[in-house]
Amino acid sequence: MDQTKKTVLSCIQPTGDMHFGNYFGAVKNWVDLQAKHNCVYGIVDYHAMTMPYSPKKLRENVWNLVFNLLAVGVEPDNLFIQSLVPEHTELCWIFNCYCPFGNLSRMTQFKDKSKDNADMGKEGFISAGLFDYPVLQAADILIYKADYVPVGKDQDQHLELSRVIAQRFNNGVGKEYFVMPETLHTDTPKIMSTADPLRKMSKSAGEKHYIGVFSDEARIRKQIKSAVTDTGETPVGEMSAGIQNLFRLIKAAGNQEEAYQSLMDEYKAGNLKYVDLKSVTADALVSLSHTFAERRLALLENKKDVKQQIKQSSHEIRKKAQQTLKEVKELSGLLNVKY
Ligand code: TYM
Repeated sequence: MDQTKKTVLSCIQPTGDMHFGNYFGAVKNWVDLQAKHNCVYGIVDYHAMTMPYSPKKLRENVWNLVFNLLAVGVEPDNLFIQSLVPEHTELCWIFNCYCPFGNLSRMTQFKDKSKDNADMGKEGFISAGLFDYPVLQAADILIYKADYVPVGKDQDQHLELSRVIAQRFNNGVGKEYFVMPETLHTDTPKIMSTADPLRKMSKSAGEKHYIGVFSDEARIRKQIKSAVTDTGETPVGEMSAGIQNLFRLIKAAGNQEEAYQSLMDEYKAGNLKYVDLKSVTADALVSLSHTFAERRLALLENKKDVKQQIKQSSHEIRKKAQQTLKEVKELSGLLNVKY
């Protein structure tokens, strides 16, 4: 690692398709930041166990996400799989002992997800892992001493907790050991569901609430065609959440600049046709999706090599995690096994 550069860390859960919320809210930034910084990006399979899941599907989803992330431009040397770096979970335990219980119980994602689990009846239950999830996230970030963490808006509260844990650890061991990680947002840190523009685009809300980056063209077009444009809650004279979201998607895709401008002019002049707005949005997303799908196909031709490469990069990235854990154990009064 180049010591003169800043370190960037971020992660994504392998819970199915990567959607345009993930991409425009975070992953696009991951790709861009690689030119300037030391970047480490994780596929967090330990986190994906906190909701009811199938072991077979989990492993499939991990490899699927590897190919998706590489196809959108993440460099293989920067990518690791969390369960290949088990030091994250050991650091999580140590951080558990520095994390105030009250802060954890205020996490809104825990409240939302435990409600989703409770709604599943017998199928779902609320695990201690789900409650502890943000502490593992703090370990993901701090084990690489990340300066910057590019994420969507929904992660702000988790990031704040990471700083609380870092500060409490520093105070506890009497040394400014961890730097406080800074949150980075894109211009579109919260992409909304096209089916319900008042809630964020997300997999957990169900199929119609997310648009997969690797979905087929017909599905993307159909979803945009049925996008809700008017929620009935918009004050007169203001752009509705649904329209805002479609404009946001076109802008974020970055491949329809002229059309964006003329649609915006039409909106301002009061004669925007929703059908035109939707057709440009669909074109913007489909065009991106095609480019990525082609790259994905090419990568899949060397499936075995790519998998081997990611195991190797996880192994390399692990060395940094081992070093931090060793120092943390030393500072915490624990004994170290010889690596
Ligand atoms: P996850 O897997 O839900 O999402 C991955 C990234 O996508 C962003 N995102 C969005 N951004 C804008 N609009 C949306 N609708 C939208 N939906 C998702 C998320 O903010 C995230 O950046 N807890 C994390 C994973 C994690 C992590 C970490 C992140 C584990 N350890 C360490 C950063 C650092 C999560 O569940 O993301």
